[in-house]
Amino acid sequence: MEAMSTLYDWAGGQEAIERLINAFYDRVEADDLLSRLFPGGVSEEHRRNVTAWWCEVFGGPARYTQELGGYERMVSKHRGLAITREQRFRFASLMNLAADDADLPDDPEFRSAFVAYLEWGTRLAMHNSQPGADVVEHAPVPRWGWGEALPLQP
Ligand code: HEM
Repeated sequence: MEAMSTLYDWAGGQEAIERLINAFYDRVEADDLLSRLFPGGVSEEHRRNVTAWWCEVFGGPARYTQELGGYERMVSKHRGLAITREQRFRFASLMNLAADDADLPDDPEFRSAFVAYLEWGTRLAMHNSQPGADVVEHAPVPRWGWGEALPLQP
């Protein structure tokens, strides 16, 4: 049997994830709840780093782990932000809209896996961002898969 495609390859690789992240942060910069978390706008460096994170999580190159500091760096960036429930929900909503802006595949299976990671990741980020939160200090960068609904033609 053929190996199942990674979410990274299915999405369209590095270029597709770059389009997603840029479309997302363009929306963030114009957003009343989220722009305040990025005073002065969302830098190119931030966009690049978050792109590397998503590429790795979806099964692409492990650059965030190998070159940028891995899970520990990501967690350190969220600490103390005190993300509210409203901000978390807005973040997840704008990512969903950005997936359409960026023309990511819109098949039910890919979008199901995408939203599952988004829901999981935003809830963890919100938790880790609370003052005094009980944070998991060390972990690998997650690798996300398809979940229950597999594409019929990998
Ligand atoms: C799936 C969910 C999420 C993922 C995968 C994610 C990923 C990341 C990563 C990888 C970084 C570090 C970038 C670097 O290495 O420079 C980061 C930073 C940041 N994240 Fe998230 N994040 C998520 C959810 C959230 C949410 C829900 C918020 C707020 C509503 C948020 C706000 C921020 C902010 C403000 C920073 C930058 C902090 C700084 O540079 O000082 N994130 N995120």
